[in-house]
Amino acid sequence: MTINFRVSLTCCLGLSALVMAAATLSERSNARAAQDDQPYVNQHYPDFGFLPSPLEYKGRVFTLSQHYPKTEPPASERPDFLKIDFQKNWRDYLLAAQDYCFKDNVLGGDVADDFDAAIKDQPTWFHVPWQHCGPNGREGVHGLTKEAPVAPQQLAISQSHQGGQMYAVAIYNHFGGYVIGKVWADKDKPNAHDVRFPVGTVVMKVLFTDVPSTEVPSLENPLKWNAYVTENYLATNRVFKEMTLIQMDLMVRDERAPHGWVFGNYQYNGKMNNANKWKNLVPVGIQWGNDPDVTDGTWGGYTNPIPVVTRRNPHLKETIINPDDNELPPTHLGWNGRLNGPADNYLSSCMSCHMTAQSPTKSPISPLFQPADKVPSVGSTGWMRWFQNLNYGERFDADKPTSSMDYSLQLALSLQNYYQWKDAAHRTIAARYRDEQLNPVGEDVTEDYEILRSQPVELNQINPR
Ligand code: HEC
Repeated sequence: MTINFRVSLTCCLGLSALVMAAATLSERSNARAAQDDQPYVNQHYPDFGFLPSPLEYKGRVFTLSQHYPKTEPPASERPDFLKIDFQKNWRDYLLAAQDYCFKDNVLGGDVADDFDAAIKDQPTWFHVPWQHCGPNGREGVHGLTKEAPVAPQQLAISQSHQGGQMYAVAIYNHFGGYVIGKVWADKDKPNAHDVRFPVGTVVMKVLFTDVPSTEVPSLENPLKWNAYVTENYLATNRVFKEMTLIQMDLMVRDERAPHGWVFGNYQYNGKMNNANKWKNLVPVGIQWGNDPDVTDGTWGGYTNPIPVVTRRNPHLKETIINPDDNELPPTHLGWNGRLNGPADNYLSSCMSCHMTAQSPTKSPISPLFQPADKVPSVGSTGWMRWFQNLNYGERFDADKPTSSMDYSLQLALSLQNYYQWKDAAHRTIAARYRDEQLNPVGEDVTEDYEILRSQPVELNQINPR
């Protein structure tokens, strides 16, 4: 609007328009100076990718929280729950971490207002940009992205619903936001190098399903969000649907963790009937390693695709699962009983997928997501590559030109989405079809971009999970 107004003034008013233009220029440089003074990185990444036009839709609109801190927060601001021993007192740790995540995000009124990180004057939690594009991109009511299919009986033996799907939104605290801001400080030249999250980083994610809550006993007293999602997992058309809360994920950069990160998981249990429904997310368990020595059997006896009961594997040393069947609804967990949530693959685990986070992506998040003839047999050496232990900031493909995203799959995805978009834009330039090619618009391309162009990454290689 402003631009059109100024342009029409320039045309009609001649000299005075020049004065206007000069004013505009100085306004801009003032704005830039003000931006340099701001304590946050100032970019304007798209908030979301899917919502009906403003003429048709007048409801809640999601805003991306993207005023990333410019400086690393001091150690004194690390969350208090880091003082709890996560191995000895795993449950206290998980409950205190949950309270920390809820403190600024659960407001106590309408649940639709919760987890709206950008509304505050000084946001304390942040989103990763560049999740808006592609068929799984962010919807515009709560910022949910499309995650994974839900097979019949995955959530409970009584669940017959076909075509079910998971949607989710994740937020990073200010320690994590600082790193997102470093990677995405320049919108035309993201910096994928030396990505390491500082101790104190907390990332949490809430997951929602469109499987009817009436089919899953643990989803009684459901918490629902309205969202603009695909009609079913295979569909591409978007509709408004009531989505039911089922899971919460947690990642913490903890100094005492042997590999730098602690993963936690919570599952909705409506039987708890807490007045604050978010508190019905009960601890499933905690993980600080992949248990590379537990390779037993094809299935190990603890892999559990249809969760009639929860099968806990006593041989695991780096996963603890909640032993209380009254609190934890029957759940399938991950491969051989490693930690995973109800939304996740029963032949995988949190850290197994997350340690593959790299840019550009060089390996799939799971050995299963490869051509059938390349999938290693379960428990074999090839399979166990996905169940090794990698330290924070270490590359999964150490022999390839790629940068570690330090367990952040959203950062990996954001860079992948960006480069794909950029590459697609280049494809439409005629010069690419002639010999002048490589750098047709004469811009400075990043090293990653060069790597990517010589070895294109498959579309959606790291999604779905
Ligand atoms: C099959 C692979 C897979 C498994 C298993 C998995 N995740 Fe993820 N996770 C992903 C992908 C892909 C993303 C990024 C896209 C998104 O947010 O959906 C992600 C995103 C996240 C995020 C947002 C931060 C980030 O990485 O950008 C958190 C937090 C998270 N997962 C925690 C967990 C926890 C905790 C578990 C285990 C209970 C888990 N994940 C299991 C694939 C997986």
